[in-house]
Amino acid sequence: MHENVHKTVSRRSEARLLGLPARVFRLRKVYGTWKTWESGDNMAGMRLTGDGPHDGPDYQGSGKRSIYGLIGLDNALKLSRKESGSLFAKHVNPGLKTMLSAIGFDKNFVAAEGIFVYDEAGTRYLDFLGGYGSLPFGHNPPDILAGLDKAGSRPNYLQAQASALQAALAHDLAVILPGDLSMAFFCNSGAEAVEGALKMARIATGKQVFVHCTGAFHGKTLGALSVGGRLKYKAPFEPLVPGCVEVPFGDIKALEGALQRHKCAAVILEPIQGEAGVVVPPEGYLKEVRELTRAYDTLLVLDEVQTGLGRTGKMFACEHEGVVPDIMCLAKALGGGVMPLGATVACRSVWEKAYGGLSKAILHTSTFGGGARACAAGLMTVSKLVEEDLPGRAAELGEYFLEGLMTLKQTYKTVKEVRGKGLLIGVEFDKPVEGLLDKLTAGAINEFAKEYYASLVAGELLGKHQVITAYTLNNPNVMRLEPPLVVTKAQIDYVLNALEDIFAQKKGLLGMALSVVSKRS
Ligand SMILES: Cc1ncc(COP(=O)(O)O)c(C=O)c1O
Repeated sequence: MHENVHKTVSRRSEARLLGLPARVFRLRKVYGTWKTWESGDNMAGMRLTGDGPHDGPDYQGSGKRSIYGLIGLDNALKLSRKESGSLFAKHVNPGLKTMLSAIGFDKNFVAAEGIFVYDEAGTRYLDFLGGYGSLPFGHNPPDILAGLDKAGSRPNYLQAQASALQAALAHDLAVILPGDLSMAFFCNSGAEAVEGALKMARIATGKQVFVHCTGAFHGKTLGALSVGGRLKYKAPFEPLVPGCVEVPFGDIKALEGALQRHKCAAVILEPIQGEAGVVVPPEGYLKEVRELTRAYDTLLVLDEVQTGLGRTGKMFACEHEGVVPDIMCLAKALGGGVMPLGATVACRSVWEKAYGGLSKAILHTSTFGGGARACAAGLMTVSKLVEEDLPGRAAELGEYFLEGLMTLKQTYKTVKEVRGKGLLIGVEFDKPVEGLLDKLTAGAINEFAKEYYASLVAGELLGKHQVITAYTLNNPNVMRLEPPLVVTKAQIDYVLNALEDIFAQKKGLLGMALSVVSKRS
């Protein structure tokens, strides 16, 4: 497959296909077809950016404030990279700013359309991070934005009504959801959808204990964090919600042990663990979990915040095993990439036990949840996913992408594992020998190399090839690839070639780590 044959030819049509400027490309045959390639160069033929004439002065009152001392929207839209960076460090999160700068992620992205985003110098980037899975159609999908205008005259937040758009969205979700999942509570994020599920499980069963999995990620609110699987995020906030029991993901015996020992309200898990590093459980695991939860009279909550709505090649990941949970959490893609929208959906019988009847009707509410514009976005998202069969597209392109990545893994030792389903893909990198980096760099890169490992590759992909990716939250050694479901084969090829360029040129991750150090110093 890797013939490493190079030719130099003019391929204006291929450039146009990729949406890149027409220019002379060197082509390389990889993955069976000819791909654009310019080894050692910026493959997209775009200008690399950095400190330069486009960076304004630090934000020290450069005339972008009103007489009231406010920046306001119009001036905010004109802030340069340096100005916004300095404001971000001063008012939002200095540590995050430092980290983003160190790996070259402190760009000022000023425009976005589909899979592309643009920085202030006009450089175009391919977005394979896809808003952590919240961009099923890419950035600013024109049809969804136009549809929002149609609903624009409705009262956006008028809680004292049985909202038509909420009712219709709950109906449409019931149509596409498996089994009898037919009741929906709308909220604004994944963590909130999880909070709704945990509360519903407790009130519906009268039991308290939640069983959750090692490596799990369900969000960072207190309840969601309590059933999460990474100590780093949990320890500083203890004591968390009591009655949470952790078992290894994929281990059915450990789960049964926990169910025997405790009176459990629910087992909560992700059908494929996203933030743990895209971990796919053994085949049949989900089915066995479903059988066990039934046997022990415990509810099954599936968190499909990341896997749901087409991402893994089915509308919902639980459909790969024909499993129907009692409660499901949705968010991310549900808002179509334009609105924050989450949902806790449940089967009727569980919902009735939880909130049935007048006295319990307002036990769980949200001011913004189910707003008209968010629901309009949700309605259009569901229709578009179904009508354009985007889950089917994710299945086909995901297989193609995984195949290409597997080929890279066979060639480059740096790649330890490639995992995923559909367009939820993780690439795990080999860790350097503990202590070696420390010795070679006198400790200079240890904090980055250990904690933000895959971001070294992500930084290279961004700086050299204008491809946006990131690491997974609970496993920094894994780079996540979650492009919008409308990604094309040509764009996947571009990323495969970019990755190969990085692996071929870097002598392992040490080289990358060192280049990060040199950027920082
Ligand atoms: C499976 C899962 N659940 C919940 C969440 C939390 O979602 P949010 O960040 O919208 O609160 C995430 C976020 O990545 C997730 O992947």
